[in-house]
Amino acid sequence: MERVAFFDTKPYDRRFFEEENQRFGFDIVYFEARLNPRTVGLCKGFPAVCAFVNDDLSAEVIDALYELGVKVIALRCAGYNNVDFKSAYGRIHVVRVPDYSPYAVAEHTVALMLCLNRKIHKAYLRTREGNFSLNGLLGFDMHGRTAGIIGTGKIGKAVISILRGMGMEVLAYDPYPDEEFAKAFGVRYVDLDTLYANSDVISLHCPLTKENEHMIDRDAIAKMKPGVMIINTGRGRLIDTRALIEGLKSGKIGYAGLDVYEEETEYFFEDKSGEIITDDVLARLLTFPNVIVTSHQAFFTSDALRNIARVTLENLREFFEGGYLKNEICYKCGQECRKKKGMRCF
Ligand code: NAI
Repeated sequence: MERVAFFDTKPYDRRFFEEENQRFGFDIVYFEARLNPRTVGLCKGFPAVCAFVNDDLSAEVIDALYELGVKVIALRCAGYNNVDFKSAYGRIHVVRVPDYSPYAVAEHTVALMLCLNRKIHKAYLRTREGNFSLNGLLGFDMHGRTAGIIGTGKIGKAVISILRGMGMEVLAYDPYPDEEFAKAFGVRYVDLDTLYANSDVISLHCPLTKENEHMIDRDAIAKMKPGVMIINTGRGRLIDTRALIEGLKSGKIGYAGLDVYEEETEYFFEDKSGEIITDDVLARLLTFPNVIVTSHQAFFTSDALRNIARVTLENLREFFEGGYLKNEICYKCGQECRKKKGMRCF
């Protein structure tokens, strides 16, 4: 039985992995700690490591994992911006779960839009206090408004199909447009400036890369419609949060729904209710009545967790059986080249 060191474990991870592992039989040791330079020593004697979005997979940690004899890192998530692939290449294979449920993330995205628009978060508290007034709860019809979707991969497309169902017009930006999809769903691909200038709601569904870090900055916000709604269920660093706060203070931004935050690592997934928030930017965000912050929960449905557990364990089985790794992420050859070869990257 191959041993797997499982980091950043929460009770729900354990529940779904234990259920699925009955069919795989890995020897999984669950650590509550996050993986980082201080905890990497726990991996001694483990050929496999299972990590999540806020685990540290920098060059320093990967060097240490390699020294300890780790052969494979199984990410139990789709995003992989926390991995230093250059350092992993040729030494440690990295696999991920590319599409456990785009619907989970898409539905949460639209939940944020509707909640902000119709002020459900305020109405919930009001009626509990016996306040049945409608003052301050005015929303707008989504039908007929324009949504700008940045990134039309699996999640972006799932969001578009919901929004089109609600009667919204959709503009999209993606460096690799899918014209067939656009035709079928009545979507218009445009450049970013056109998307910014014409969208009532802007939603981010692209991966975070060095090139698009802080793509939503002061300049981008200046190009947007007054009162725009910005939704980010992608990655925190796509938005310059200080510029977002400026936009919220001036009223240029009418609403923000954030499932991710650029400095989320210290807070998200943890109960900090008994502590003082020392991150002043996060604390400021939480003061706005027209901002909803959820702590990276868009993926969090039972269907998604079950798929994550199953695919992660399948990835590990593929690795240990020595076969082709269909969900490998490779610094050197990229997915297309590897698929053509039908083999492992190294
Ligand atoms: P995907 O790989 O199917 O699609 C990503 C799309 O973004 C592709 O069409 C790609 O061409 C496009 N893209 C790449 N660079 C871009 C750029 N600079 N501007 C605009 N588009 C760009 O990925 P998927 O599954 O749709 O996920 C998207 C992102 O959502 C992930 O990278 C991850 O960061 C985030 N995510 C968040 C979750 C959450 O719980 N909040 C859960 C899962 C994913």
